Amino acid sequence: MLLAKRPARPEVLVTKSSPTDVVTALDRASEELIRDRIKAVRPDDAILGEEGGTTGDGRVRWIVDPIDGTVNFLYGVPEWAVSIAVEVDGEVIAGVVNVVPRAEVFTAVRGRGAWLAGERLSCNTGVPLERALIATGFGYGSGRRAVQAEVLRHVLPRVRDIRRGGSAASDLCAVAAGRLDGYYERGPQEWDYAAGGLIAAEAGARVGGLEGRPANPGLTLCAAPGLFEELHDLLLGLAPERDA
Ligand code: IPD
Ligand code: CA
Ligand code: CA
Repeated sequence: MLLAKRPARPEVLVTKSSPTDVVTALDRASEELIRDRIKAVRPDDAILGEEGGTTGDGRVRWIVDPIDGTVNFLYGVPEWAVSIAVEVDGEVIAGVVNVVPRAEVFTAVRGRGAWLAGERLSCNTGVPLERALIATGFGYGSGRRAVQAEVLRHVLPRVRDIRRGGSAASDLCAVAAGRLDGYYERGPQEWDYAAGGLIAAEAGARVGGLEGRPANPGLTLCAAPGLFEELHDLLLGLAPERDA
């Protein structure tokens, strides 16, 4: 549906009547489709979606980002995803991230590994910080971005290089697949990291926040054990959980 309905870039970008509206309509349509499919087979489950908030309650909760990487989606950059996770009693037990334009479907079930196209994924190990390829992302507000830029100024000289892919869910899957060594970001929400975080963890990565906290919007970090701690300690000293 998203591939079929994604408007051609020039049309969207030149229309004054807001490119973002077109995308927002598709965000909503994607979430509606996912909600309908879940409800058809699991009518009693709770669902948290970025667009529609929380509906229902119950031990089982689905966590949905109907388009992760909306700016890429808008520009036709083939790096956006649909992310769906499912939680039982507060623990994510399964996740799927479909990087639609690349036809890559990453999956994980807790305790049963992370998978892509029939191959079991394992993250890179033994990479020291100075040789690590690290992804990050930026929020939408300028105050937050000012701090993110300041933090990045200290991280960039200490690592191999930085990537800003534009989809947190896809970044986490890239760590799982060894296409990146690590990821950190201030501000991602549950729907950004629930599925990708399980996929990365099942591929051997550590996923969490600062000072032993679980992944959270304050800061979410992901890398193999060892690199995780190096990146963590560097970030902790930079007080990254601030907004200007
Ligand atoms: C965004 C993307 C981006 C990340 C932002 C997210 P959205 O999600 O995951 O990579 O840096 O923090 O908000 O808005 O495209 O669903
Ligand atoms: Ca998102
Ligand atoms: Ca989204």
